[in-house]
Amino acid sequence: MSTRQVWMITGAGRGLGRALTLAALAEGHTVVATVRGEHTLPAHEQLHVRHLDVRDRAMATAVVETAASELGRLDVLVNNAGYGLIGAIEEVDENEARDLLDTDLLGPLWLSQAALPVMRRQGGGHIVQISTVGAAGTMPTLGLYNAAKWGLEGWSEAMAAEVAEFGVRTTIVEPGAIDTEWGAGSMHFATPAPAYDNLRVRLFGTAEVPWPPSGTGGGTSSTAIAAAVLSHVADHSDRRLRLLVGEDAPGHVRAALDRRIEDYDLDPRWPSAATDEAGT
Ligand SMILES: NC(=O)c1ccc[n+]([C@@H]2O[C@H](COP(=O)([O-])OP(=O)(O)OC[C@H]3O[C@@H](n4cnc5c(N)ncnc54)[C@H](OP(=O)(O)O)[C@@H]3O)[C@@H](O)[C@H]2O)c1
Repeated sequence: MSTRQVWMITGAGRGLGRALTLAALAEGHTVVATVRGEHTLPAHEQLHVRHLDVRDRAMATAVVETAASELGRLDVLVNNAGYGLIGAIEEVDENEARDLLDTDLLGPLWLSQAALPVMRRQGGGHIVQISTVGAAGTMPTLGLYNAAKWGLEGWSEAMAAEVAEFGVRTTIVEPGAIDTEWGAGSMHFATPAPAYDNLRVRLFGTAEVPWPPSGTGGGTSSTAIAAAVLSHVADHSDRRLRLLVGEDAPGHVRAALDRRIEDYDLDPRWPSAATDEAGT
């Protein structure tokens, strides 16, 4: 693959998608940035802004095929568009569940399915899935979001093994907290049930939702996250499937995996670390 590539980034109008778009342009790449509506992306010769709601499979296919035919290729697809939903499992209604899964789980699937034939034909490419540390563990009230991203990681890991022989790389990016509007103005909320007020107080310090849509939740800057993703994509010797980004990400994943092992350890048939070390 040449060092000047054609990128497609979804949800590029703001947040991490916008930061990735600016970082890719700064590296000399051509970027097809997909947005749903208003955006503040700058005018740039190598920037092609296209309208896309990732829930719409036909639109996703058309955007990928048109971009690949107009620009001659598609080297890197970044499935970034997504949002979170606060709601205990009992509180989430059918429309909220379907909309979240359509966006965070199926949106990346439609785009990946459209990009793969293009990448196979051209002999290579790279699909980057923006997941979360919440796809290693879970958090009460984020269960549907966790499910969508766990699902994204499930089929993406399988896909990685299917398409490696075509020269297509897959990366699952697991960020910790990023300083975007994800946890604030972008957050969706199920209708709260009083039975979960105590849980919300324990988690958030208040039972009241939605919380005010102002500011950001803090966290690593989206510019730093974008730089880490760009540098990973540029390094062809980096064979990691999962890319931890953000200061807090490794700690969250370690804690989640430790909790999972502790749970398996409750099974008397589970080989314990002590047994492994003794080699018996
Ligand atoms: N911020 C964090 O702490 C954090 C941590 C881990 C993972 N992530 C993941 O990072 C990704 C980017 O989020 P962010 O932090 O940049 O949040 P953000 O600032 O809220 O941006 C979300 C982007 O997704 C777009 N989007 C949402 N639904 C869409 C749809 N149906 N079709 C097309 N675009 C849609 C939004 O478009 P509009 O402008 O049109 O709404 C927006 O551009 C998400 O996948 C998120 O789950 C974020």
